[in-house]
Amino acid sequence: MTVRTWRCNICGDGYVGEGRPTHCPFCGAPDKYIVEAEKYKAPVVGKLSEVSANNIMEAIKLEVGNSQFYFCAAKNSKDIELQARFKALGKVEAEHASLLSKIIGAQPPVIDRNAGKCRPDDKALVQESHDREKRAIGHYRKFLGEAAEMRVKQVFAALVEIETTHIELADKSI
Ligand SMILES: [Fe+2]
Ligand SMILES: [Fe+2]
Repeated sequence: MTVRTWRCNICGDGYVGEGRPTHCPFCGAPDKYIVEAEKYKAPVVGKLSEVSANNIMEAIKLEVGNSQFYFCAAKNSKDIELQARFKALGKVEAEHASLLSKIIGAQPPVIDRNAGKCRPDDKALVQESHDREKRAIGHYRKFLGEAAEMRVKQVFAALVEIETTHIELADKSI
């Protein structure tokens, strides 16, 4: 068994394992974004347009809200698989807030895991997960269309893909 180091082109985090993971364990990006660590090149952002800077700030707010919702959902679900899923998604959305912050040169937001509000009902939690992901995708498609910068385009395209996998997960449980 030979383990090696991999790195994600979307969040920049490293992963140690035998093979390339199907998805980044931190931000959920699919394997096409994961490279051998020695081939990783840090993204160059450059100067952002005002539109992209504002869109990224809005995206960070969305991610923080979704992360807090998922941590609330993880605590309130009665289902053992949903508890694990919601906690994992809470961390993924927090990572999204963090990677977006890097693009605008801001500190990653501190996520209060007890600040979210949610209904202690599994059906309602899955439905809200679905609705939140759908809303995020709608925004990110628009932000992608408005972005002139390569890095911003790359990140919003990846976020659309990632949040789509979260919707698929919710759809299976509705
Ligand atoms: Fe990642
Ligand atoms: Fe996200």
